[in-house]
Amino acid sequence: MSDLESLAEEIDRDSTVVALTGAGTSAPSGVPTFRGDGGVWERFEEGQFTYGRFRSDPGGFWRDRLELQRELFGDVSGPNVAHEALATMERDGFVDAICTQNTDGLHEAAARAVSERANAGAKRKDGTAEATILELHGNAKRVRCVDCGRRTDADPVFERVANDDVPPRCSCGGIYKPDVVLFGEQLPEAAIQRAQSLARESDVFLAIGSSLVVEPAASLPRLAASTGATVAIVTLESTPCDGLADVVCREDVTDALPRLNELTIDDSDRS
Ligand code: APR
Repeated sequence: MSDLESLAEEIDRDSTVVALTGAGTSAPSGVPTFRGDGGVWERFEEGQFTYGRFRSDPGGFWRDRLELQRELFGDVSGPNVAHEALATMERDGFVDAICTQNTDGLHEAAARAVSERANAGAKRKDGTAEATILELHGNAKRVRCVDCGRRTDADPVFERVANDDVPPRCSCGGIYKPDVVLFGEQLPEAAIQRAQSLARESDVFLAIGSSLVVEPAASLPRLAASTGATVAIVTLESTPCDGLADVVCREDVTDALPRLNELTIDDSDRS
């Protein structure tokens, strides 16, 4: 039996299955990864995008952030088959939550696409019609005013930055900040606690397309393993958590995830 086949046997509507995704999940959609060959951090410095720099040099931060936004999202083809497979498993009750480090909004887009295909108002086992997607690092499609907290679409604000209106300000006069967690900035406490309790409660924890080197996300597989979950890692390269994983799948997410979805459905038909 292959690793994915044995993994699919543990995924059913009665088990708690949590997925953690990283940049490798969106790479097939044209969003560059951060590390590894050709990664974003070969062309930019993390130090350009720290919270400290945002506070001390908001103009310079926004000029560099415009370049990074173009690099990350300038050529994105939309959700890929891995996003759709995960969204389908979540809609059909085989995955309980998708925690993502990605800020591209592609899991939400995939959830909308697959729910439109399902019968309208399809209910999940927890009775909700909404997908459970935790954006641990926020969403780069939005900006937020640091004074009044107003959130708005990022695109028009980046247009203003491209026209040298930096730093861009809210109508209240406050400076806008990308609605993402910057280096040196704490993740929202509620998001961390929710992700940690999901990891603790999980029977199966899937770490997909992440190098698992950035905290606190990198600790989630360890936390899941410590409470007895079956941990599966799907990435093209090794991660520091490979040693604690029950399944390590060195496959492209666009092969592994659709296959896992098919296997899970086959198994459920048998049970
Ligand atoms: N299929 C499977 N795995 C892939 C694919 C693919 N098609 N493409 C890339 N990968 C793997 C790479 O081998 C690597 O292990 O995905 C991983 C991507 O790792 P990173 O680029 O480090 O991305 P991530 O783990 O999400 O980074 C975490 O770091 O810079 C911060 O805030 C940023 O959220 C990001 C965080």
